[in-house]
Amino acid sequence: MFEQKIYTKRRKLLKKEFSNGILLFFGNTELPMNYPQNTFHFRQDSTFLYFFGIEEPGLAAIIDIDNNKEIIFGDDVDIEDVIWTGPVPLLKDKIQKVGVADCAPFSMLSEYVENANIQNRKIHFLPPYHPNNQIFLNTSLGIPFSKLKGSASLDFIKAVVKLRSVKGKEEIKEIKTGMKTAYKIFTTAMKMVKPGMFEYEVAGKMEGIARSKNGSLSFPTILSVRGEILHGHYHNNEMKDGDLLLIDAGFETPMGYATDHTRVVPVSGKFTQKQKEIYQIVLDSQIAAIEAIKPGVTYQSIHLLACKVIAQGLKNIGLMKGDVDEAVKQGAHAFFLPHGLGHMMGLDVHDMEDIGQNYVGYDDEVQPIDQFGTAYLRLGRRLQEGFVLTVEPGIYFIPELFKLWKAENKFTDFINYLKVEEYLGFGGIRIEDDVLVTAEGYEVLGKPIPKTIEEIENL
Ligand code: GLY
Ligand code: MN
Repeated sequence: MFEQKIYTKRRKLLKKEFSNGILLFFGNTELPMNYPQNTFHFRQDSTFLYFFGIEEPGLAAIIDIDNNKEIIFGDDVDIEDVIWTGPVPLLKDKIQKVGVADCAPFSMLSEYVENANIQNRKIHFLPPYHPNNQIFLNTSLGIPFSKLKGSASLDFIKAVVKLRSVKGKEEIKEIKTGMKTAYKIFTTAMKMVKPGMFEYEVAGKMEGIARSKNGSLSFPTILSVRGEILHGHYHNNEMKDGDLLLIDAGFETPMGYATDHTRVVPVSGKFTQKQKEIYQIVLDSQIAAIEAIKPGVTYQSIHLLACKVIAQGLKNIGLMKGDVDEAVKQGAHAFFLPHGLGHMMGLDVHDMEDIGQNYVGYDDEVQPIDQFGTAYLRLGRRLQEGFVLTVEPGIYFIPELFKLWKAENKFTDFINYLKVEEYLGFGGIRIEDDVLVTAEGYEVLGKPIPKTIEEIENL
């Protein structure tokens, strides 16, 4: 937990954005995995963490703008629980640590919300993703499940995005601390890879390091010799000589902040010439994108810049052809790079994705581009000092996409399918780092994890 004044200040800034109504914050609850007492890993809601800092399950909070009150709702454990769990600090003590004056039993939350509703006061809530919080809103406000997301408060969404997008000094410090473990996770994994091992051996070691640093993973590790599968969570392949292993993983610090990196290593320890060529194009694109980062530039334009470097590189080795600018404008490059360049990162690895990608990554000025590939870009708007984001271009050879687009004769002016056929089975390459937008430009966070061809082979 940060110092009390951090949370008080965050709530003060939030309150300034509202003239009336109540702001309703849900913490998360534990969910049964296979029977009620055996629960999934608990993760507090990030917005609740940001404003109220308490990590325990079963909490909610209200900021009552009309009556200038802040209340945290939750239940203290009774003696029956204490026997099993040991003593737990009382809620009235916990709320002091985050500068909140009042607390109440959880059962009083519905009464508070229902009364506000009867009085026609505006009840601001964020799009609920947790089933228990959806049930609460459905029961106390009578909003059908299908209408919950659409009933969320736009003012609340915008206010939270405004505050959480620009990271405070304390947040940047915490993310930088997390980078030390990210470095250890990656260098350990990259060194241990060798033919005959299974992917799960590496994935398990990585998770073990995260746990040994009192944290966890910021998302389920993507680790596969089938690197063209963008979110490959299957870890049962044996790694063979000639394979490339793609590792995309993040550490979640004890305070809940994420890291997110991707590296690709040749299982044999040496890249083939073909692998080197593709790798270098991705690296050139990532470096060009990072160097373009500064306040005021749209991330959409940096995404398109990275795509052009990829398209030019692929043209140089005969996989693409024609006019590079036109290929990217029409979306032909998305055959090789069907995802966005990156996303915001903070308390969530895809920061605030629960609130809505379009509010987090876009605004009135910069709108999402509805084109295969670029449509997945989670951040497009102008960068500001204090944003933390990822830069993660890639090149993939996806057999299913090849079959489909070739059969449709899609973008034959730009894609050399005959040559692409030689790369089926290649897999995929992505290179990802986390970047802080500074007043002058950018700072790549953390000790650099080996990423040039030479550095990786040396490791
Ligand atoms: N690192 C996984 C992702 O950004 O989707
Ligand atoms: Mn990422």
